Amino acid sequence: MFKKILLGIVFIVLIFVGIMFFYVHVNWNKTYNISYPELQASSDSTVIARGKYLVYGPAHCSSCHVSSYEEMVNSDKGDEIALKGGVDFPLGPLGIISPANLTPDAETGIGRYSDGEVFRMMRHAVKPDGTTTLNLLMPFWNMADDDLVAVVSYLRSAKPVYNKVQSPSWTFMGKMVRTLAPTFQPIEDATPPAVAPPMAATIERGEYLSRYVTNCVACHTSRDPMTYEATGPEFAGGMEFEPFPELHKVIGVDPELWTRSTNITPHPNSALSKFKTSEAWIARFRQGRLVMHSPMDWGPFSRMTDEDLTAIYLYLNSLEPIENDITEIIFKKE
Ligand code: HEC
Ligand code: HEC
Repeated sequence: MFKKILLGIVFIVLIFVGIMFFYVHVNWNKTYNISYPELQASSDSTVIARGKYLVYGPAHCSSCHVSSYEEMVNSDKGDEIALKGGVDFPLGPLGIISPANLTPDAETGIGRYSDGEVFRMMRHAVKPDGTTTLNLLMPFWNMADDDLVAVVSYLRSAKPVYNKVQSPSWTFMGKMVRTLAPTFQPIEDATPPAVAPPMAATIERGEYLSRYVTNCVACHTSRDPMTYEATGPEFAGGMEFEPFPELHKVIGVDPELWTRSTNITPHPNSALSKFKTSEAWIARFRQGRLVMHSPMDWGPFSRMTDEDLTAIYLYLNSLEPIENDITEIIFKKE
């Protein structure tokens, strides 16, 4: 009798696992038919200059779309590296992806894509080939029309560089998470403004930047290490970042060191509250990175204008204070 029940349970589990395998196998690389935003790149030099500020500053495309860890370090320091992509971007147990070649090269870069395809990637997190990726990496869906146009206009105006980038490689775990986790689904209901809040020290500008351009919110929120779903309040910190051992080798840092993001709500013991004035805040950002292996895009952010840095400071200080005392910023896992 007991044996029969056990066999029955094993049988049900096997069927369940089988269905799961089949479901993931069929759906992990699903393509989505989302319509193209009606936006067009421009060749106006003011628009291009604004795009360049975003790409190498607040929107920090330059942190990721490079081809080696050496370039990542130099890009952070301020070298204007061509955005030819290709560096390994390990996503822990999920697999490895590589940032695309964003130069206008017609064979390997965005020269292959229509404006619609590039804009759809930015607005809906659907790649030109119709598949999706971790949408939190590029949370630009509510970037204003005029800023998006500026970014793509700058990319189109840059020098084309031939560099063929590897397709992503996903583990079975990665395929499963891609199939099921909302952080890998397209963004269907973006609500972007037509025009970005003007560059001025306002809370409105600060919110726009922190959420849809600089992406403070993705990292400064505690998240599940597998699905990247939020597990704590926004901006209260606590997300843990795995080391990139290859990058650590380049900068000479112990390859086992992790980092944890800080609380940037205005609670008395948060990292934000260390900065009593916007001048002190700006001064900290102008210093750039102090934790050499930090995943934070200190370089690009250090090149933001005083207005934009102050806007973020004002917005963060307008948030509900949340108690979350983050003590270990740098740590090792047993
Ligand atoms: C945190 C790292 C990161 C940042 C910042 C980032 N990207 Fe990406 N981007 C990636 C990765 C990784 C991929 C490849 C995803 C994949 O293949 O699943 C990608 C893919 C793309 C693609 C799709 C191209 C293709 O061939 O499929 C476009 C377009 C793109 N990024 C544009 C941008 C722009 C423009 C910016 C700045 C406004 C930017 N990205 C900022 C990491 C980043
Ligand atoms: C890619 C992830 C990531 C992004 C994006 C990010 N941060 Fe961080 N941030 C971290 C991590 C990890 C730390 C702790 C290590 C360090 O100090 O660099 C940190 C540290 C900080 C600190 C404490 C610095 C100090 O010296 O006390 C502040 C303040 C901060 N971040 C603000 C921001 C703001 C504002 C934004 C958006 C403009 C932002 N961060 C975007 C990951 C990120």
